Amino acid sequence: MPSKKAKIAVLVSGGGTNLQALIDAQASGIISSGKIELVISNKDGAFALTRAKNAGIKTFTVLKKQLGSQEAFENEIIKILDENGIDLIVLAGFMSILSKKFTSHYENRILNVHPSLIPSFCGEGFYGLHVHEAALKKGVKVTGATVHFVNEIPDGGEIIMQKAVEVKDGDTPEILQKRVMENAEWIILPESTEKICKQIISK
Ligand code: GAR
Repeated sequence: MPSKKAKIAVLVSGGGTNLQALIDAQASGIISSGKIELVISNKDGAFALTRAKNAGIKTFTVLKKQLGSQEAFENEIIKILDENGIDLIVLAGFMSILSKKFTSHYENRILNVHPSLIPSFCGEGFYGLHVHEAALKKGVKVTGATVHFVNEIPDGGEIIMQKAVEVKDGDTPEILQKRVMENAEWIILPESTEKICKQIISK
């Protein structure tokens, strides 16, 4: 096991099943080159915060409404990240678009998981269940998930890993979402996180 570990911050907005996958991967050793130092939510009371607390991880809630602007919101997040010496930011169901100022500050240091095979069904407006609704509406037979670096273009950064998932007759957006999470997201997000942490600590 490497002695030095990359410090990870996970940004969340909702249920946090991807955060749970990261916590479990850390416990099982799939993630061994990094450690989840803290979790930041932009939603009050997000269940992801409970998952973090249950795992003994520090949590922060940062609300744009309370801070008054996107700039103040991002500055507050940067302050937390810098104070804690964070090396890698993982967006795990984080439903807020970050500005160029933020993303360029952490070039190649922000990962996101998106529930489709980019470049299909991605970009502004494609998030959560909407992605699966669009895939079913189009009638695609294969969908999946993508982990990519985050830049100023929504879902536009370099692709790190993708995994395909079959669409089945009779799928609803909810059923498809669950299959994509179980068979793709919860696997490639921890694997990608380990891959990038390993690169960071070997530099
Ligand atoms: C996940 O399916 C994630 O890929 C998606 O939201 C869900 C969050 O679930 N993210 C996006 O759509 C980002 N564009 P979780 O809170 O249970 O991890």
